[in-house]
Formats: sequence, structure tokens, C-alpha cells
Amino acid sequence: MRKAALVPILWRGSREARAAYPPFPGEWPGQYREIVLSKRFELDRVVFFGRTGSDYLEMFDLDLPALRGRDVLDCPAGPDAFVADATAAGVRAVGCDPVYELQADEILARGRKDIEDCMVAMRRSDTFPTLDFDEYEASKIEALDRFHADFTGEGGAARYRAGALPALPFADASFDLVLSAHLIFTYSDPASGGLLPNSPFDLAWHRAAIAELLRVTRGEVRLYPTTTVTADAQLHPYVEPLMASLHQDAGLETTYEPSRFDQGLSGPNRYLRIRRRNGTIL
Ligand SMILES: C[S@@+](CC[C@H](N)C(=O)[O-])C[C@H]1O[C@@H](n2cnc3c(N)ncnc32)[C@H](O)[C@@H]1O
Repeated sequence: MRKAALVPILWRGSREARAAYPPFPGEWPGQYREIVLSKRFELDRVVFFGRTGSDYLEMFDLDLPALRGRDVLDCPAGPDAFVADATAAGVRAVGCDPVYELQADEILARGRKDIEDCMVAMRRSDTFPTLDFDEYEASKIEALDRFHADFTGEGGAARYRAGALPALPFADASFDLVLSAHLIFTYSDPASGGLLPNSPFDLAWHRAAIAELLRVTRGEVRLYPTTTVTADAQLHPYVEPLMASLHQDAGLETTYEPSRFDQGLSGPNRYLRIRRRNGTIL
């Protein structure tokens, strides 16, 4: 049965309900509208799901040759292929993610399962009306394979470090550039436009996570995306309060910058750039 067809049945359910709520769609009580009509994209966990290296360059408007010889952290790196591509281009790149505690074969199995589950949830939702799901899924498998070959290859153990925000296993000012994609903002609670019901990643967690990313950089931090994960993506509601706090620190300069990455959502498409005024210049 189509979901919309359930609505009249629900509404005929009780005399009290009919008396309390008029049967006009615009006036349905919010919780019924959520249960019956919502097809928005949500997940039951943070998935180990990663983008390609070229996706990363588009997201953060980067150019690998310009980063050659620099220290760059990707956190969370998950199974994305940025670290592999950057290393091959002569960048001193490090990836950090809690899942790196597991054995390489468990990590690969986890990556495959999470791509499968995530794609089911995405295809079922109405959040990505213009996305080519087959192409999107193929690029995630390509990224996972590239990541896994690099993780298990020469020097992989030093490049991929287990760790979790907001307490990273790096000394202060270790990196020229710190990139963070698809955890911050993305996995907040659905009420704030994120993907994770009962999310532990509330505003206080975001403050601590961004402070930690700033602690380990001597140059700058870039965060993507900055919007809700909804079909009509809006600026994520945590961005403004976080920006207000960051603006109070005279040593930092915070700007929104246009991103070239197409993640299949309409709305503003920008990354947040937080630079140390007297720090490394990229
Ligand atoms: C969707 S992936 C994003 C991977 C990559 N940044 C990208 O954009 O393709 C989210 C990652 O966050 C990791 N993660 C979960 N909790 C974390 C935490 N507290 N600190 C750092 N990473 C975390 C997960 O293991 C997962 O690999």
C-alpha cells in the first residue's frame, strides 16, 4: 500500500482524534505527518563511507600540487581516497578515524556493508531528487578499494591513525591544513537537519570537536558540508552560533567559501574555512 493511502485510515481511527484535529492535510499534527509522509534520509549509525580524492579536491577547492610537502590531516578520513591520492602526489597526508582500530579485513567488510546499507537508505528517501545513484555508489566502492590498498600498503600504518573527535592523538599545531567532511554537522540530530536520531553530536560536541581540529593545526581547518542533509538544504543551525564564538577569537579568521562538489542537494554549497591569522599560509 502506498504510504499516502494510510492517511485517511489513520484519520478515521478514533472519534476523539477526529474531534481534536480537522482532517485537512495542512493541519495534520506534526508527528502523524512525520510517521506517514516522511521519506527523508536518516541513518542508524555513522557509516564508514568515503568519497574519492577528486571529490575532496572539489569539496574543499584544493589543488594537490600546491599542497606538496605540506602536512595535511583528514579527520574523519573513513574509507575516503584523499590520503592515498595526496600521498601519491607528494603531500604528507594523514587520515584519522576510530574504525582504524579494527583489522584491515574487518575494515573492508565494514566499508562494503556500510555502502550497501547507506545506498538502500538513500534510494528509499526523497532527499536526493537529482542524484545518479548507480554512479554515486560506484564512486564509493572505488574510494573504498583505493583507501584499502593504501591502508594495507607500504607506510599505511603510519598514515592511518585510530582516533576520535574530540580527542585526537596528535600534538598541538602538527598540520598545515586539517580537513573534516561528513561527520561535523552531517550526523547531528534530524531535528537540526542531520542524519542521526538520538545523535551524541550536539552543539556542545561540535564546539569541542572544532576546538580540537584547531588545536592540531598551525594553519587552517576546512569543514564540509555546512548545510542540513535535506532536499532543500539550509545552512545548518549550528553554523551561526559556532561562527559567533569563532569570531570572538581575534587570532582566527572564519569565512564561507564556495565548494565545487555536487552532493545532490539543492541550497547553499559552501565549506567553512577557519584560518589562524598568524599561521601557515596555503
Ligand atoms: C561518512 S564518513 C566520512 C568519511 C570522509 N570524511 C568523507 O567525507 O568521505 C564518517 C566517518 O566518521 C567516523 N567517526 C565516527 N565518529 C567519529 C568521531 N567521534 N571522531 C572522528 N570520526 C568519527 C566514522 O568512523 C566514519 O568513517
